[in-house]
Parts: sequence; C-alpha cells; structure tokens
Amino acid sequence: MKLLTTISSLREYLDAQRAAGKTVGLVPTMGALHEGHASLVRRSVEENDVTVVSVFLNPTQFNDPKDLERYPRTLEADCALLEGVGAQAVFAPSVAEVYPEPDTRTFSYPPTDSVMEGAYRPGHFNGVCQIVSKLFDYVRPDRAYFGEKDFQQIAVIRRMVADLGLQLQIVPCPVIREASGLAMSSRNTLLTDEERTIAAAIYQTLRSSLEYAAAHSVEQTRQWVIDTINAVDGLEVQYYSIVDGESLADVTLWDESAHIVGCITVFCGSKPIRLIDHIAYKR
Ligand code: PAF
Repeated sequence: MKLLTTISSLREYLDAQRAAGKTVGLVPTMGALHEGHASLVRRSVEENDVTVVSVFLNPTQFNDPKDLERYPRTLEADCALLEGVGAQAVFAPSVAEVYPEPDTRTFSYPPTDSVMEGAYRPGHFNGVCQIVSKLFDYVRPDRAYFGEKDFQQIAVIRRMVADLGLQLQIVPCPVIREASGLAMSSRNTLLTDEERTIAAAIYQTLRSSLEYAAAHSVEQTRQWVIDTINAVDGLEVQYYSIVDGESLADVTLWDESAHIVGCITVFCGSKPIRLIDHIAYKR
C-alpha cells in the first residue's frame, strides 16, 4: 500500500493507474478509522481496481476548536487497518498542502445544509464541501464512498456533485453498529465504558419509535423520542427532526413523502460527546 502525502504524488500515481485503464474508488475519511470505515473500503475494493483512502482531519469543517483539538489522531493504526482491507493507497496530506491559502469558496444548498447539523454547526457543511470538492478534484474518482451514518452529509454532497456537474457516482453505505446498536463513530473512543452503555439507548429508542409512529402523529413521535432519550441519565437530545429523506425539509404528515427519516443529535456524558444517528420511517 502506498502512503502519499502530496497532491502531485497522488496525481502522478493515479494518472498511471488510469492510463492502464483502471477504475478508481475514493473513500474520504478524517482518520481514527473503525469497522464502519473498513466496510466502505471493502466495498470500494470490490467495485474498483484502485481504492484511495484519504486521511485528513479537515479543520474548515470544525466550528468548535475544542472538538477539533480532541478529535482522535491515529495514522499508524489507520494505515494498518487499511492495509488489512486491501486499499491500494492512502492520501494523508498536511493542512498546508491542502490549504496553502485560506479557502474562501462558499457552498450553499438549502435546506440540505441549513437544517439540523447545518443549523447547530454553522459553516460545517461549507467546510465539508470545500474539502470534498478538493479531494474529488485531486483524485477524480469513478466512485466515492460515504457512510450513511452521516445521512445529512450525503444529501449535501449529492447537491454539490449535481451543482458542479461532476462525473462520479456517490455510493452511500449502511451504518455499521456496535452489538448494542450504537452507531460506530470515531467519537465513540472518547466515551467512557459507562457512557458507551448509556449511548445504546439512542438507537434502541429510535427503533422503538417505529412501532410508536404506527399509531401516532409525526409531532407526537418526535416528542416521544426526545422525552424517552432525555429520561436517560447522561443523555440530552440537541434536536430530533423528522424530515423528507432527500430535501431534508421537515415533514408534518406521514403520508407527505415516500421517504421519511428521523435524524437525531444527542449529547452524551459530562464532556459531553456529541453523537448522531438516524432511522428511516419510510423508504
Ligand atoms: O465524514 C467525514 O469523515 C468527513 O466529513 C469527510 C467526508 C471525510 C470530509 O472531511
């Protein structure tokens, strides 16, 4: 497996692969890799001749400097995991390599990027679009793989790809969960064992809400999820939104759309750690 740290070495490597007729899959990550990332890489390895994994902790998508500071950094372990799942190349550039000048571009795709995470983390999706558009430009992949855990991120990136007229396929991949149901996330390593146990109530409640929703309105279901999770000591819901699965606009009636998803963000523990998850009511 190649470890590349400059844009020019990445381009040179990929030009040679493409000249040999090979297809390229890209798995963008911020490192601190886990089984969720491994599943994206395996899928890319199956579907492409060459898989490039970017490992870059992108500062422009963090609106909270403390969140960026405590984000786990584990490049050596990440490379070992990637070698094990068959990636051909890792692209791990420095911040100066990616942003020799501050990136002043703005991306705006409301409502996908203005609601939920967009409202609570101003500038977050602008930063995501900045880095992902750069990665798409460096790699020019045939396919790019994103975890559905970041459900909103995929909706925003789809809008960006359409807006920029990019020729690539976005491949959403299912959420990988711990045995308790907790969605795997790099942030889970920041939880204590006790917090990890408590955090399992998030997905358990989302699952139970499917049954509750069958006999209750959208608003009753939304409030029931919030109340049930807030009743768990150590958990506090930041928002729970029930939205159209494509536009991400709020829905008020269950028959308003053919694709309805509930998206949640919960603070867990005393630090606290921010955890996100979602569930499909209709698909
Ligand atoms: O999902 C992530 O890990 C990041 O938002 C991404 C897509 C790698 C961009 O930094």
